[in-house]
Amino acid sequence: MKKINIGMLGIGNIGKGTYQTLEMSRSKIEQSTGMSLEIVKILNRHPEIDRGIDIPKEKYVTDAYDIINDPDIDIVVELIGGIEPATTFMADALKAGKHVVTANKAAIAANGQMLQELAYKNQLMLRFEASVAGGIPILNAISSALISNEFSQVQGILNGTTNYILTKMTENGTPYEEVLKDAQAKGFAEADPTADVEGIDAANKLSILISLLFGIGIKPGDIPTKGITTVTSEDIAFAKEFGYKIKLLATAHNENGKVTCNVEPSLVSENHPLANVNNEFNAVYITGNAVDNLMFYGRGAGPLPTGSAVIGDVVSVARKIEKGAAYDLLPHLRYDADLEFAGEGAHHYYIHCHAVDHPGVLGQIASTLGVYGIGIKTMMQRAGDNSGGTVPMIFIVYDVDKSILTTALQVLLTNGSVSSVDNVLRVLKS
Ligand code: HSE
Repeated sequence: MKKINIGMLGIGNIGKGTYQTLEMSRSKIEQSTGMSLEIVKILNRHPEIDRGIDIPKEKYVTDAYDIINDPDIDIVVELIGGIEPATTFMADALKAGKHVVTANKAAIAANGQMLQELAYKNQLMLRFEASVAGGIPILNAISSALISNEFSQVQGILNGTTNYILTKMTENGTPYEEVLKDAQAKGFAEADPTADVEGIDAANKLSILISLLFGIGIKPGDIPTKGITTVTSEDIAFAKEFGYKIKLLATAHNENGKVTCNVEPSLVSENHPLANVNNEFNAVYITGNAVDNLMFYGRGAGPLPTGSAVIGDVVSVARKIEKGAAYDLLPHLRYDADLEFAGEGAHHYYIHCHAVDHPGVLGQIASTLGVYGIGIKTMMQRAGDNSGGTVPMIFIVYDVDKSILTTALQVLLTNGSVSSVDNVLRVLKS
């Protein structure tokens, strides 16, 4: 039986999940491929830590180059995470003639083009299914089963941590900080949750999806991104009154050659399939010109779901090695389309503010919004006691560029009709 040797960089949660996934599926993979896949070396920079998994100690190495330069290793699986040193390790592995499989969204979003070119130059394969939406096989589907489509949009819940937090805030009315602490205690949120809660993780994943779906490179740092830290239980309750749930959405549209995108907590109609994607689950909703609307749903994080995607890629590469095949385009990051990046685009917005409870104020607000061409779709005012204090007001307004909306709200604050703008969130049109 042909043996494929794998060197794995990293033995954190995803590394352990990948090792376990391979052990669980060993005989099935052998029967279906006629090959034996073996993780022969593992980079473990802290061998003194008990990893809580039964792995023969002799597999561990402390220098990545013991794997990268090992002539007996066919595939390097990178599971360290972060842009560096992961990118350098992957680039050096490709230069050393190894195929590379990774789960690293930050490195692929930042350096995927360079790594893909290196793979091409050295006639090797680069796979990264696990980098977007964990166990959901979205990238390979876009690049193979759905290849005939021109895509017009993607709407995704791409981060499990924030979806878990927003779900618990919605179910229990618990404040953000409290849910975050609970999520950290349960291991759903990292000790430093910044990349998740500020939307950076979702922006990395959206950048990869945009390249595959539309063929344009938009760096994660250029994607307008807003995290969930400003969302309050009050916003969630107000949204519910209007028939919406709040989700951290990563969206991109291609309309007449202009690509707009953003990552933002958004009001999603309770009738939209994404509204019912809860807890740590992810979903990717795409629209293609042939297939029409399609939604992928599943676990976007966790050792075994991510391990499932990593081992899927490893087996795919192993099959190609056996056939003597070299470089292929699966999945294929594309940067060649004749498209323009047009920023965030115009959207419906939810405005949560406090207005002075005084005759004529509502008219003043509506007129000022009107001056900026902002039409009110619906609004609600909480009852006050007519003593000249302030009352909460919610507006949902029609399509407007956020910069114009920001200017109009600043005018309302300056002219005193509004005492505070508590939150502004995008509303997904359905
Ligand atoms: N931290 C990510 C999430 C998982 O919470 O979805 C890895 O991409």
